[in-house]
Amino acid sequence: MIIGVPKEIKKEEYRVAMTPSGVYSLTQAGHRVIIETKAGLGSGISDDDYVAAGAEIVPTADEVFEKADMIVKVKEPQEVEIPKLRENQVLFTYLHLAADKKLTEKLLERKIIGIAYETVELDDGSLPLLIPMSEVAGRMAPQEGAKYLEKPQKGLGVLLGGIPGVPPAEVVIIGGGTVGTNAAFIAAGMGADVTVLDLNPVRLRYLAEIMPANVKTLISTPYNVKEALKKADLVIGAVLIHGRKAPKIITREMLKEMKDGAVIVDVAIDQGGIAETSKPTTHSEPIFVEEGVVHYCVANMPGAVPRTSTYGLTNSTLPYVLELANKGWKQAVKENKALWRGVNVFKGYLVYKGIAEDFNMPYTPLEEVIDQ
Ligand SMILES: NC(=O)c1ccc[n+]([C@@H]2O[C@H](COP(=O)([O-])OP(=O)(O)OC[C@H]3O[C@@H](n4cnc5c(N)ncnc54)[C@H](O)[C@@H]3O)[C@@H](O)[C@H]2O)c1
Repeated sequence: MIIGVPKEIKKEEYRVAMTPSGVYSLTQAGHRVIIETKAGLGSGISDDDYVAAGAEIVPTADEVFEKADMIVKVKEPQEVEIPKLRENQVLFTYLHLAADKKLTEKLLERKIIGIAYETVELDDGSLPLLIPMSEVAGRMAPQEGAKYLEKPQKGLGVLLGGIPGVPPAEVVIIGGGTVGTNAAFIAAGMGADVTVLDLNPVRLRYLAEIMPANVKTLISTPYNVKEALKKADLVIGAVLIHGRKAPKIITREMLKEMKDGAVIVDVAIDQGGIAETSKPTTHSEPIFVEEGVVHYCVANMPGAVPRTSTYGLTNSTLPYVLELANKGWKQAVKENKALWRGVNVFKGYLVYKGIAEDFNMPYTPLEEVIDQ
């Protein structure tokens, strides 16, 4: 198979979808890997590093899209990339369609086979290709929150860890999955008073066992969220309902009762965000203020630490890329249920039920069309 890796062009995105190690595994297995020049520079990988591992470097993204049977990327296709996608081409990347109806419609028009990293799901319900980036974003969230709590950054002017004689900040984390757990560890390590809310009592029991003493757990009900927000200095949005738009748990009314200068880091923004007031921002303009509350809503947080994120991501994606290449996409998808669940759009059909329901669009089960 010919595997193509274009340079990421989303604003402030420095990750790349493949490392030299991935190139080596693929070329050793008899595949061709075509990489756009300078695609790895943001992650500290030169064209020469790729060539040494067996890749071919091409000067433009056009060439990558023209030649490849499968495009492997990091972020969803950007406006200028969409027309380059070819009918029946496999696109393996984060798609986050639940947050973007227009993109869903455009990818359906292109008649591609779109497999979304974030919906590749194991039998136990875990999301192996979301986990590494959720680990990164979760660990970054208190770091970013601490920064924007500083007065010159429009925040409340509170030091996350406090000092002896002055209490630390109150950090409220809504959602205790991968993002929430990683955020809680870091916030607790920085000395904050942390509360994690989740709907799932089993998860809360687990967190209560493994977390340090300055992390409390609280069942997530609208009342508990509302009360926790009133006391919060920093709120971290870390909810996920697989493949669906994030529920709007924080209303504008609730913001009015929060402290002026409190900060929300809405990590769930890539699925639409958990605050009614959240809208996506970028690393160059990461925040805005609504109802006196600073909102940090960067949809590609791991893009800021590419030398960690690229390796974390590709450690997890490579086995799937290899399986798709070695078996061919159809056999791989049929044999591996996790990949099957990853297929969102298929040759013009919307085959992911949650997205179809969210957008009120026609849903076609993959089994009805896969052999077309
Ligand atoms: N902005 C970024 O750069 C970035 C990076 C990585 C992940 N994310 C996003 O972060 C979000 C969280 O990802 P994750 O990997 O932690 O997901 P996860 O599935 O591991 O955890 C989600 C948690 O939310 C809980 N939950 C569901 N409804 C809830 C509610 N009403 N109240 C409280 N908790 C609730 C679930 O029980 C689960 O424990 C996702 O939207 C993901 O796409 C964003």
